[in-house]
Amino acid sequence: MATATKEALLRTVQPHVSHGSNKVTVVGVGQVGMACAFSIMSQRISSDVCLVDCVEDKLMGEMLDLQHGSLFLKNCKVAASTDYAITAGSKLCIVTAGVRQREGESRLDLVQRNTEVMKNIIPKLVKYSPDTILLIVSNPCDILTYVAWKLSGLPKERVIGSGTNLDSSRFRFLLSQKLGVASTSCHGWIIGEHGDSSVAVWSGVNIAGVRLKELNPKVGTDSDPENWKDLHKQVVESAYNVIKLKGYTSWAIGMTVASIASSILHNIGNIHALSVLVKGYHGIEDEVFLSLPSVIGASGITDVVIQPLTDSETQSLQKSAKLMAES
Ligand SMILES: NC(=O)c1ccc[n+]([C@@H]2O[C@H](COP(=O)([O-])OP(=O)(O)OC[C@H]3O[C@@H](n4cnc5c(N)ncnc54)[C@H](O)[C@@H]3O)[C@@H](O)[C@H]2O)c1
Repeated sequence: MATATKEALLRTVQPHVSHGSNKVTVVGVGQVGMACAFSIMSQRISSDVCLVDCVEDKLMGEMLDLQHGSLFLKNCKVAASTDYAITAGSKLCIVTAGVRQREGESRLDLVQRNTEVMKNIIPKLVKYSPDTILLIVSNPCDILTYVAWKLSGLPKERVIGSGTNLDSSRFRFLLSQKLGVASTSCHGWIIGEHGDSSVAVWSGVNIAGVRLKELNPKVGTDSDPENWKDLHKQVVESAYNVIKLKGYTSWAIGMTVASIASSILHNIGNIHALSVLVKGYHGIEDEVFLSLPSVIGASGITDVVIQPLTDSETQSLQKSAKLMAES
C-alpha cells in the first residue's frame, strides 16, 4: 500500500511485476508439505514459494511462521491462500495433500481417499499454471501420479512422482552404515513402486565402480550368507517404522523433494529415481507409473535410463507394474 512516507522514500520507475521464474507451489501444509517448503527455502532453491491448503487457519499460521524467518532465508517470498489463483505462473507444483498411512496401513490403502483429493486439486493447479511441472508426493505416489496425469491433460514428461527417490536415499544410507563409507559414495538404486513391491537393483550396486556383485555373486539373494538383502527389507519397512515411532515421516521426504526441485529449477541434467510412465520399458505393457532413473530438467523428464537388469530384477519390476495396473 502506498503511503506518503513510502512515496517520499521510493521513486517507482516501473510497476513491480512477479516474473515467477522459479515459483514453487506446495499444496498441503501438513508434515510433508512443510518439510518440502522448508527444505526448498532453506537451501535457496526457490525465492518464491506459495502454499495452498483447505484448512485456512493452519495455512495462515504456517505462512506467517515462515515469513517471520525471511530475514534468514535471503528474503524468499512466501505467500499462501486457499484460493488457487495465488499459484498462477508456478514453474513447479508439489502435491503433498491428502491422508497419510496410519499405523498398519499400506500406501495402497489410501488410494480412494487421495484420488478424491487429486480431483479437487489438479485441475485448479493446471488452470493457473498450464506450463507447470506437477510433482506428486501424496501416497500411493505411483497411482496418484497416474491419476494426476489423467486429470491434468499435461504431457507425460511434465507429471512425475517423487517415487523411489526417497527409497534410494534410504538404501544408500543403509549401505553406508554397513560399509562405513559416506552415502554419497554408495551407489545403488531402488526402482519400481514407492511401496512394498519396490525393487533393489543389486546387480548395479557399486562403490567407486566396484560392483558388490563381483565380490559377492550372491549379494541381494536369499542364499547370501552376508544377508545384504536385509537392507532392502529395511528400506521397505522404513516408513512403517518411522510412523510407528513419530506418527509420520517428514524430513527425509522434504529433502528428497527439495533435491528434485533443485534439479528442475537449475536444469542441470541430474538423474533421480522418479515415477514416470513406464509403458514400453523393461517389457512393461501396462499404462502405469513406476520409478526408473530419469533425467529431469526445466521441461520435465527428458530421458529415462534403461539399466541392464537381471532376469529376476526385471520380473520383480514387471510384478510391480501388474500390481499397479490392478490397483
Ligand atoms: N511419496 C513419499 O515418499 C511420501 C513420504 C511421506 C508421506 N507421503 C504422503 O504425503 C501425504 C501427506 O502426508 P502428511 O504427513 O503431510 O499428512 P498431513 O495430514 O500432515 O497433511 C496433509 C495436509 O493435506 C491437506 N489437505 C487434505 N485435503 C486437501 C485438499 N483437498 N486440498 C488441499 N489440502 C488438503 C490437509 O489439510 C493437511 O494440511 C500422505 O499421502 C502421505 O502418505 C509421501
